[in-house]
Amino acid sequence: MSIEIPEGLTELLQGFTVEVLRNQPRDLLEFALQYFTQLKDSETRGASFGNDQNSATRPGKAVNFIDEAMQIDSENGEEDEDDEEFIAPVINRFVRRASVCAEAFNPDDEEEEKEPRVTHPKTDEQRRRLQEACRNILLFKNLEPEEISQVLDAMFEKFAVNGEHIIDQFDDGDNFYVIESGTFDIFMGVEGIDKLVGCYDNQGSFGELALMYNTPRAATIVATSPGALWCLDRLTFRRIIVNNKAKKRRLYEAFIETLPLLTSLELSERMKVVDVLSTKAYIDGEQIIAQGDLADCFYIVESGQVRITMKRSRTKKEDGEEELDIATCSRGQYFGELALVTNKPRAASAYAVGSVKCLAMDVQAFERLLGPCMDIMKRNIANYEEQLATLFDCSVDIEEQNA
Ligand code: CMP
Ligand code: CMP
Repeated sequence: MSIEIPEGLTELLQGFTVEVLRNQPRDLLEFALQYFTQLKDSETRGASFGNDQNSATRPGKAVNFIDEAMQIDSENGEEDEDDEEFIAPVINRFVRRASVCAEAFNPDDEEEEKEPRVTHPKTDEQRRRLQEACRNILLFKNLEPEEISQVLDAMFEKFAVNGEHIIDQFDDGDNFYVIESGTFDIFMGVEGIDKLVGCYDNQGSFGELALMYNTPRAATIVATSPGALWCLDRLTFRRIIVNNKAKKRRLYEAFIETLPLLTSLELSERMKVVDVLSTKAYIDGEQIIAQGDLADCFYIVESGQVRITMKRSRTKKEDGEEELDIATCSRGQYFGELALVTNKPRAASAYAVGSVKCLAMDVQAFERLLGPCMDIMKRNIANYEEQLATLFDCSVDIEEQNA
């Protein structure tokens, strides 16, 4: 059964919730009454909510709470901790926005749009290498052909020497990097000590976070071999990728809100999940995951059905292996988490049944963003063993199966 969520409901409730958490009113009902009355009044007046302090009928300061909650741009969120009595609910976020997660970037009046296009001429051989390096970059997957071509034109090559710091944590963001070759360690400072949190091995990309969210670099990236990188300057990245991100949020924010897996994430975290997801389309019968392969992605089914199968040896008399159906995933369900959680090869294969669209997330984003969802995933992983035991009529240890 599918239940249709009325347009605007999610934003309405989210905004109200943020105000409640922010103001901690003693009388919730009274607060709600006042809040929605003001909202209705403003709507009737056709007020442009913006940062209009006059839209609040009681004294208080106009703070764009959502912006602040998202910790993205505090320019209009100057807050005076001393002035903390009752704050009238500010209703400026109830206008249907381009995206519920506010940030400094507004694709509609983007100043960077006026900047001249960046082009770095390339030989045919460079272009071929660049295209190959960018083939699996998820951030580029949903771009229009014209946007992709602008991105490729703007990228320039950089060679890294062993030990070179490509990015230092807390610096300002300059470029986004795509790896053509080389290995790179990821360090994060925890209480003043750099801790190794992961590495890149001849593929992938990094340096998107500071450019997307206008934040200092979140990690240090150090080359652990000579390497070749392709760099995309900040302005082009923001003009094209961030603009595309706004479109993606419009497309997927409602869907993402319905996913049980993500319930333990804050709204801003769920929106960050949307930012890193890319759509992948498959035709009937196409293999999405091959059992035994190394894993680099996590998937959520957007439409269609995905068949999960597992190979097992036939009985001694017969030779070879047989492939058994073990599960089916449909819209809103996920797969491909097990190998990322256990750091093992894929435990099963996945095939499209009919036309399928999946939202994919790379392993770094999975680790960075889905930590709070681990309990739900682990509960499901525990069920896999039971499911296999029933299907194969014997006890199967996922760890062993995966080894
Ligand atoms: P940015 O913050 O711009 O610069 C450092 C980059 O490290 C960051 O973008 C990500 O691309 C990358 N990175 C990889 N793993 C992590 C992680 N666990 N947390 C934060 N950043 C990470
Ligand atoms: P992963 O091992 O990364 O790739 C194959 C996926 O199939 C796996 O993650 C799970 O998401 C999914 N799957 C569904 N049912 C099972 C099962 N019984 N055992 C293992 N994997 C399963």
